[in-house]
Amino acid sequence: MEPRPRIAVLGGTGKEGSGLALRWARAGFPVAIGSRDPERARQAVERLRAHVPDAELFGLPNAEAAAWGEVVVLAVPYAGHAALLQSLRETLQGKLVVDVVVPLDPDNPRRYLPPPDGSATAEAQRILGPGTPVVGAFHNISHLHLHDLEDTPDCDVLVVGEDRAAKARVIQLAEAIGFAAYDAGPLHNAPIVEGLTALLIGLNIRYKTRGAGIRITGIPRRAGKQVP
Ligand SMILES: NC(=O)c1ccc[n+]([C@@H]2O[C@H](COP(=O)([O-])OP(=O)(O)OC[C@H]3O[C@@H](n4cnc5c(N)ncnc54)[C@H](OP(=O)(O)O)[C@@H]3O)[C@@H](O)[C@H]2O)c1
Repeated sequence: MEPRPRIAVLGGTGKEGSGLALRWARAGFPVAIGSRDPERARQAVERLRAHVPDAELFGLPNAEAAAWGEVVVLAVPYAGHAALLQSLRETLQGKLVVDVVVPLDPDNPRRYLPPPDGSATAEAQRILGPGTPVVGAFHNISHLHLHDLEDTPDCDVLVVGEDRAAKARVIQLAEAIGFAAYDAGPLHNAPIVEGLTALLIGLNIRYKTRGAGIRITGIPRRAGKQVP
């Protein structure tokens, strides 16, 4: 993908967001870690920089990161999802928004609790409106795989949303950090993809594992050919 877009990861101080930021920074993308607290963002960057000393990586308050990014990734707990989107609605207009958020039952993370819109991704698309494509992706990738740079993750990325061109861009972003990624259809399918995360958490608990994932079979795995 040339030129590499600027990627802002909101909630990038957390487990999943910092893992994605690390992978994209290592792949040569300019990356901003967004946080509610600039000092936390700075500390997160310092931690990641130890692994990617030459990366173009810096920390910003969420709103500034969102304004800077061409691609904006949402990696906050579902409790903060709608409020963050509402506060950044204007800033995000026309950008590519990637939603990683999974609404899990706070009392039981093995349970998916779909919001009234049907999924977090659909909620984001409603709040941001049709001028801002929202693509759901990376829900099923455990942060553990992202942080271990020696690890080649044995998991695939399912990409959902209404905008085919936006999904194709996100598939390229996933492939750039080593994943096979697939267009998993429209927003209608987002509850399935998000819900799989709760199922994987349940598997991890039951089998005493930590990084369960999914893999698509029956479709040739040709790099860059996952877009139908
Ligand atoms: N962890 C995983 O393996 C994994 C895998 C797939 C998907 N996900 C999804 O990715 C999202 C992030 O997961 P995570 O494990 O990285 O979460 P996390 O570490 O608990 O939180 C991520 C960051 O979100 C910010 N945050 C916390 N509460 C917030 C609020 N109410 N409003 C705005 N920002 C808030 C915090 O950053 P600041 O305090 O710096 O602002 C925090 O560092 C979740 O929706 C999760 O379901 C996680």
